[in-house]
Amino acid sequence: MDGTALNEAVGGIVWLTGLSGAGKTTIAQAVYATLRAQGRRVELLDGDVIRTNLSKGLGFSKEDRDTNVRRVGFVCHLLARNGVVAIAAVISPYQTVRQEVRALGSPFVEVYVQAPLAVCEQRDVKGLYRRARAGLIQGFTGIDDPYEPPLAPDVVCCTDRETVAESVGKVLAAMAACGLG
Ligand code: ADX
Repeated sequence: MDGTALNEAVGGIVWLTGLSGAGKTTIAQAVYATLRAQGRRVELLDGDVIRTNLSKGLGFSKEDRDTNVRRVGFVCHLLARNGVVAIAAVISPYQTVRQEVRALGSPFVEVYVQAPLAVCEQRDVKGLYRRARAGLIQGFTGIDDPYEPPLAPDVVCCTDRETVAESVGKVLAAMAACGLG
């Protein structure tokens, strides 16, 4: 890519929020692959990965979650202003901090990855809901810790009723609508 093309690359943030097991990582990876195939500069920040490095040592209190989300948002913003589409897949359960990240000023698409708690619990991909119900994990989002749904998400993906391809299509359309297409 020469200097001119570099300057023309439009960056932004695609922020996926939702319960554990709702499908954030699945959709994020599919959006990532699609954009990569189009030759876009793209990066994926996934909660489970971030918590093994950038946010290693943080727990799941409100304070630690807020710190985690602020860190992810800050890195996304740095990437975005350098022409990268930064895709974040983090539970990010609190409305106020999600708003803070949006207010950093990068083009921002908020995606609410929605599935009923019962569906997430039934999927229980990591066995964490079972452990939370058994009292082995305290403060698990949706069980005994809050999740505040977005008030005005740009996209809602109902993963119990739509295919991954449909969800990806909705995200790409929302990106285009905010100039990130
Ligand atoms: S956030 O609340 O700070 O945004 P994040 O997305 O980084 O959370 O991490 C969530 C992941 O951590 C879950 O997918 C799950 O694998 C794991 N996890 C471990 N303990 C908890 C908990 N108490 N609540 C939610 N997720 C947890």
